[in-house]
Amino acid sequence: MMKRILGFLFVLFAATAMAAETVEVWKDPGCGCCTAWVDHLKTAGFKVRAHEVNDINAARAKNGVPQALGACHTARVGGYAIEGHVPASEIKRLLQEKPKAAGLAVPGMPLGSPGMEADRSHPYDVLLFTAGGSTSVYRHYPGKDRK
Ligand code: CU
Ligand code: CU
Repeated sequence: MMKRILGFLFVLFAATAMAAETVEVWKDPGCGCCTAWVDHLKTAGFKVRAHEVNDINAARAKNGVPQALGACHTARVGGYAIEGHVPASEIKRLLQEKPKAAGLAVPGMPLGSPGMEADRSHPYDVLLFTAGGSTSVYRHYPGKDRK
């Protein structure tokens, strides 16, 4: 009997751990690559709640992201800010590792990042940033030239 209860609790716990996290996204209504990034998140298993905003700079500031790290959309999940075309795999890693930081950013819109797919990709860094604005490289993506 005890074993059965423990088994049930384990299944319940596992189901909770697997439940999709919701990413809240603020984006420009006319931004195609934002929509492509949202699709990338959904494919990776995230739920997405998107808001169209006309002033992305204001939304970014409200989200606690330094303007210097700015891209085309700003987002929030699990208490962290996510700025720009951050790969879903890095967001999952962030939510698992829970570092002391304000969030992740991919400044600009590097070709080859999720939502910015092209026939070639530029090297780019996923940056971990603090509320004070200091950054460190969370992961480097090397990019790849057209063959
Ligand atoms: Cu973009
Ligand atoms: Cu965007």
